[in-house]
Amino acid sequence: MKSILRGNTRADIYNANVRSGVCANTSRQVVNRCSREDQQIGEINAHKENSSSISSRTVTTLYEVADEGVSSSPSSVHPAAWGLGAVATLGASVYGLTKSFESGSRPYTGNVGQEYDAWTEEGILEHYWGEHIHLGYYSDKERSAGYVWKDFKKAKYDFIDEMLKFSTCSQPTSILDVGCGFGGTSRHLANMFPKASVRGITLSPKQVQRGTELAKERGLNNVEFKVMDALKMEYEDNSFDLVWACESGEHMPDKKKYVDEMVRVLKPGGVLVIACWCQREETPEKPLTEQEKKELKFLYDEWAHPYFISIEEFERLTKGTGVMEAVATADWTPETIPSWHHSIVDGATHPWLVMSKPHIWYKTARDVWCILRMHDAFDKGLMQYGMITGRKVVATSPA
Ligand SMILES: C[S@@+](CC[C@H](N)C(=O)[O-])C[C@H]1O[C@@H](n2cnc3c(N)ncnc32)[C@H](O)[C@@H]1O
Repeated sequence: MKSILRGNTRADIYNANVRSGVCANTSRQVVNRCSREDQQIGEINAHKENSSSISSRTVTTLYEVADEGVSSSPSSVHPAAWGLGAVATLGASVYGLTKSFESGSRPYTGNVGQEYDAWTEEGILEHYWGEHIHLGYYSDKERSAGYVWKDFKKAKYDFIDEMLKFSTCSQPTSILDVGCGFGGTSRHLANMFPKASVRGITLSPKQVQRGTELAKERGLNNVEFKVMDALKMEYEDNSFDLVWACESGEHMPDKKKYVDEMVRVLKPGGVLVIACWCQREETPEKPLTEQEKKELKFLYDEWAHPYFISIEEFERLTKGTGVMEAVATADWTPETIPSWHHSIVDGATHPWLVMSKPHIWYKTARDVWCILRMHDAFDKGLMQYGMITGRKVVATSPA
């Protein structure tokens, strides 16, 4: 049968098997197995120019393995054939996975709440990223020493402390955390300012539940979480003296409304501070290239982002409210970029939770791929880590 299989089409194989008296069922099994392998081989062939390591000899061996598996016991197969078959299958799988990773798997469809519910229930994000779903902060000194020496989760607490310094807000009494995740930042601020009342809003009921549980565990009674849309908040105008938005703007389908709403609920004299992944400013001199647009599309579509804007656009939106002064911006790409690789290194050193859940292996592989692509986009300047702050003017009565 080996000679029949090698170099023939699936129809030839089937007919030859029927002619040679192999029962129809066995032939179908062979054909089905070969069909899967043909598909892999097709992918290998399509990729042949770039994959010189996968030789035609290996492909032939795949047929031999299939053939041997039907006609004799597995122990009679030469171990080298199994080895080569495994390598070819692995190569084809990696190639297939990379291809399937090209288009984003979770495009924005108004699904942010559901996605965070799923991420919260699964427990993986909290296990690996801790209570804070945002990047960490790495000082110049820590970056020169090597990010791996820093505790991955501590980097996130450092980020909050640096963001607070950047805002220049010193003693807030009412804080709103817009897009609070599991509430890590809300709890940290509630702990830091025990006299302040802290409110955290998110689209995810599961995050509200988890954030409330953790606040109870910590004995914090000055923090509360609610499901509420940042684009139509229930709060009165002029309610908070610190409005904090850390990595929620990426998910907003209307960035102007996002900024306007946060400024609306800010008290006169109060401070707005935003941290957000931004794309580089597009100018007539430097428009986005087709390749850049393709890369951004992947980054939008993998983690439910409708689109990103530039740091400059955030500045224009904040100033455009007409009631903000002392507006300042910064690009914290150098301080935050180690987080991407650090999250992979940290995950690889604690793989057991993921390893114990085979059903999430594919999704985890995609997340790792997206993390690498994010790092790459920040590294080459297509993405920037935007920091924006400003103070709401205190209306002066006419003289
Ligand atoms: C990447 S997480 C950031 C979490 C949190 N700021 C932290 O630092 O851990 C994004 C958060 O934004 C929230 N979010 C996205 N769009 C929102 C909207 N329209 N209204 C309220 N929350 C929103 C999500 O539900 C999620 O909690």
